[in-house]
Amino acid sequence: MGCFTSSKPQNFEIGNKTFLLDGKPFLIKAAEMHYTRIPAEYWEHRIRMCKSLGMNTICLYVFWNIHEQRPGEFDFEGQNDIAAFCRLAQKHGMYIMLRPGPYVCAEWEMGGLPWWLLKKKDIRLRTNNAYFLERTKLFMNEIGKQLADMQVSRGGNIIMVQVENEYGGYAVDKEYITNIRDLVKEAGFTDVPLFQCDWSSTFQLNGLNDLLWTINFGTGANIDAQFKALREARPETPLMCSEFWSGWFDHWGRKHETRDAETMVSGIRDMLDRNISFSLYMTHGGTTFGHWGGANCPPYSAMCSSYDYDAPISEAGWATPKYYKLRELLMQYADSGQVIPDVPQANPLIEISAIRFEETAPLFKNLPKAQKTETVKPMEDFEQGWGTILYRTTLPEVKEGTVLLIDEVHDWAQVYIDGQLLGYLDRRRGESSLMLPQLEAGTQLDILVEAMGRVNFDYAIHDRKGITEKVELLTENSRKELKGWQVYSFPTDAAFASRKDFQKGDRTEGPAYYRASFELEETGDVFLDMKTWGKGMVWVNGKAIGRFWKIGPQQTLYMPGCWLKKGKNEIVVLDLLGPDSAVIVGLKQPILDMLRLEEPLTHRNEGEVLNLNGEVPVTVGEMGVPNGWQEVKFNRPVSGRYFCLEALDAQDGKDNASIAELYLLGSDGRTLSRQNWQVVYADSESTDWGNFTADKVYDLQESTYWSTAYGVAYPHSLVIDLKEECTISGFRYLPRAEENAPGAIKTYKIYIKDKPFIK
Ligand code: GLA
Ligand code: CA
Repeated sequence: MGCFTSSKPQNFEIGNKTFLLDGKPFLIKAAEMHYTRIPAEYWEHRIRMCKSLGMNTICLYVFWNIHEQRPGEFDFEGQNDIAAFCRLAQKHGMYIMLRPGPYVCAEWEMGGLPWWLLKKKDIRLRTNNAYFLERTKLFMNEIGKQLADMQVSRGGNIIMVQVENEYGGYAVDKEYITNIRDLVKEAGFTDVPLFQCDWSSTFQLNGLNDLLWTINFGTGANIDAQFKALREARPETPLMCSEFWSGWFDHWGRKHETRDAETMVSGIRDMLDRNISFSLYMTHGGTTFGHWGGANCPPYSAMCSSYDYDAPISEAGWATPKYYKLRELLMQYADSGQVIPDVPQANPLIEISAIRFEETAPLFKNLPKAQKTETVKPMEDFEQGWGTILYRTTLPEVKEGTVLLIDEVHDWAQVYIDGQLLGYLDRRRGESSLMLPQLEAGTQLDILVEAMGRVNFDYAIHDRKGITEKVELLTENSRKELKGWQVYSFPTDAAFASRKDFQKGDRTEGPAYYRASFELEETGDVFLDMKTWGKGMVWVNGKAIGRFWKIGPQQTLYMPGCWLKKGKNEIVVLDLLGPDSAVIVGLKQPILDMLRLEEPLTHRNEGEVLNLNGEVPVTVGEMGVPNGWQEVKFNRPVSGRYFCLEALDAQDGKDNASIAELYLLGSDGRTLSRQNWQVVYADSESTDWGNFTADKVYDLQESTYWSTAYGVAYPHSLVIDLKEECTISGFRYLPRAEENAPGAIKTYKIYIKDKPFIK
């Protein structure tokens, strides 16, 4: 196994239960990192960090939407020079696993797909839709031009190429996967093994015979259980965990995520002992700069800018305690001939004493040219991809008690009546309406909508921004659509943000751009403390740095030193809420775990107790023994809008109840959509050190779960509002993925009715 990348052509192939490099067994120890999330100036540093950790490969996605921001205009320069990134890896003797999508997920805006695909009203992304395939083909060919000659067979370092991404979590359509496979081949990736990655529960749904199958799962998962089905399906295949999640990503308004270092290392040890290849997702998460963060749904929930991920290499490229623990292990399991260099030094750090903002440009006094439209349309229809959009119209006479209904706000809106703020609407909380006061005809209505990240997972990736359908006035007996709009676009490019009519002063009302300059004697990495600011975005020296939102948990923005200058630097902030004080201090440490919420994370109101006395259960039963999915069918279907699960005891006899995922089955036995579900009640939810609230049972992620708090005894119960009356014939339930599934429920009762069980 001594042979590391040279420009001498090599042969990488699939052998019997092992990968073969030039005919010799090869275990892939891959570090996932994303070139887009690391300043190009720091690529080499991060690659060296992975090498010094004991990895032999870098695994990366290709992000279509950063390379083709306008249809047909491809950009592979500078920060987008993916071939240069791969060559740097090769320079340091690292192989590449390439994951060109077209869809990549990755907590990245729209899972990597370009927003302009959504201009086609009838587009069905990630299907055989002709336009989708046509654009995918053009993109894939460009990637081929950049990288096909870097396959190991041609003297490069690419050893494997992925086809699509976790498609089993999206649909069942082998024909589509076949098409994508063919596009990848036609782009020139013909010489190295192609693979699919999926979850253990879904890999067979779209598995093609001629592709390698790999499995994704996270820290803590029971390794043997994860590979059980694959071992049975393909006894001879080399095993690989193509994404072993080192940590997890952060959402605005939720606890900062961490995963235990010991547990992560022991999972990797288990794989090494079993000769299982792995890619550690993320080994270095980095930063989702600018507007590039994605969102999950349901419930809609946008990602923070930091993609630190609690990974072994921190957001700023530092070796963490997790790094050293893993390094120790990987040293013990080094390949023969593998050199593991000393750990590179971290980049220099600086502090910045207060940057004071003395110029402001109120957004409403800096309106760009208006576009007119009779009915409201989403942002994409105005050729705008990202940012903020203002919809303005005049109201007819409005009687007291009239409701303004906005269908739908994507994603966060401020509503103004004649320039006065009336209220906010937040998609995360399913908000769509405001009560209007009595108003004269001719009153100006302004709806300022900020687009947060486009959803990067599941069908909700069809996520148009701004206002997606219509705006109506609703009274008890009338419904009227508002028409005759003027629309103003505020894109996110740095040039747009800084080209404003800035006026002296550090204070102004409402949404505004703020500008300052600051002098530096030395440059270095620094964390911009945004604690006194509201909600918005930051640009420094023409680079988009990221989003901030006072609710946290992220309170600082990583500012790479390579984008700062000795002497004068310029910073622009767009704050849609307005700051408490227009000052930024540069810190030497990030603040990623300071949540400042106005409403609780949990779903049980103070003093509220669920009383099921007198309720008649639909069914009473006992679950099977974990791990894995279980399905329960009722004797006969039952209708109702509210679903209540009462758990009476656990498989292990302890206090805790946990559920990773829960689906309800409709009258046809198929799973019901969970898009609009809302938790009404959960008796206990653990939020001490992570996100274990009850909405985790329908967030589509098998590795996230609802967990009751430590020391709270059974029975445990959960009530979900399905938001419409449904006929339910049973349910599917997934316990936690860890060995023996901690918190797995034993005896349960199910109740279904048309009232919410609690007052
Ligand atoms: C999945 C996806 C990745 C990423 C992780 C979670 O495995 O394939 O792109 O979204 O989940 O971080
Ligand atoms: Ca979940």
